[in-house]
Formats: sequence, C-alpha cells, structure tokens
Amino acid sequence: MRGLFNQKQQDERIEELLEKTVKIKTNLFQETKDKEQLNPQKRLVSINNVLNAVKGKLGRPKTAINIGSGFAYETVLLHIKGIKAVGIEKVHLKNIQALTLFHRLEILLVQTEELDFSKSPAILEADFHKMRFDKQKVDLITMFYLSKELIMNPETL
Ligand SMILES: C[S@@+](CC[C@H](N)C(=O)[O-])C[C@H]1O[C@@H](n2cnc3c(N)ncnc32)[C@H](O)[C@@H]1O
Repeated sequence: MRGLFNQKQQDERIEELLEKTVKIKTNLFQETKDKEQLNPQKRLVSINNVLNAVKGKLGRPKTAINIGSGFAYETVLLHIKGIKAVGIEKVHLKNIQALTLFHRLEILLVQTEELDFSKSPAILEADFHKMRFDKQKVDLITMFYLSKELIMNPETL
C-alpha cells in the first residue's frame, strides 16, 4: 500500500477499505463514551468526509502527525491520500488493537519509536505533551474527535 496514487485510485482504495471493514468482524475495546470510534466503518467515513471537505484548504502537505490517533483511522486515511502520516496515541491497548485491525484489513500499519515519516502509515506510542519537536518539520497536524483534550488542555492547540 505504498507509493503515490491519483485521486481516483485514492478514492477506490478508500472504498475497498470500507468494504473490507464491513466483511471482517471487529470487536474493538475501549472504555469510552465515544462509542462510534469502536465502529471502524463509521469513523473512517466520518474522518474521510472531513478530510475531503478541507482538502482545498490544506495546500499540498507531504507529512502529517495526527494527535490522539486512537485506532489509527486518520493515520491510514492520510497515508492513502498521499500524505506520510504518523499517529501519536498514548493508550497502549488502542495501539495494539490498531495494528491488529489494519493488518487484518491488509494495510501495513507499523509502530515507530520516533517521528519517522518514512515508516508511514505508522503509530507512535507517546503522550503528545511530553514529546519534543525541536528539529522536526511537519506540514500538517490533525486532531480528530479530541474536543475533551482541547477543553482540558487548550495549549495543545
Ligand atoms: C476520542 S479518541 C479519538 C481517536 C481518533 N482520533 C478517532 O477519531 O477515532 C481521543 C484519543 O486521543 C488520545 N489522547 C488524548 N490526549 C492525548 C495525548 N496527550 N497524547 C496522545 N494521545 C492522546 C486518547 O487516548 C484517545 O485515544
């Protein structure tokens, strides 16, 4: 699943991914009020709609980090859309489930120990607040469904 795809190919890949999510049985687990994140298809469609809506305003980002990546939906979608993406998620159990989920969906999501965009699509297990970005350059930062974090820690934004 590596390399650059044109718009039509990207849309087809996302369509394929959505079809596969319907076919496999998932039982993602997380104590949460946000139950929709446990439904890969619903959450992928929702995030994809947002990304499509803002596409024209993003310029041409080559790299992205997505903070609070959860089950890595946006990390994978950004990658399919040609943006090298690393998701940052602090909950170990979510990262393990994300890796398993996307391997079952035949997408090579990997875990990385540092912000290495060459590993895209990748997840990095860390608390965003404790990370240092001194020499890092990134074109795009995304946060999906992180309203609680923004209320409690507005400095994150
Ligand atoms: C409601 S979930 C949304 C997950 C995903 N973005 C989605 O849309 O499905 C928010 C996620 O942000 C993670 N999170 C919150 N604060 C974080 C931080 N400081 N560093 C890393 N992850 C964080 C939580 O562990 C949780 O998995």
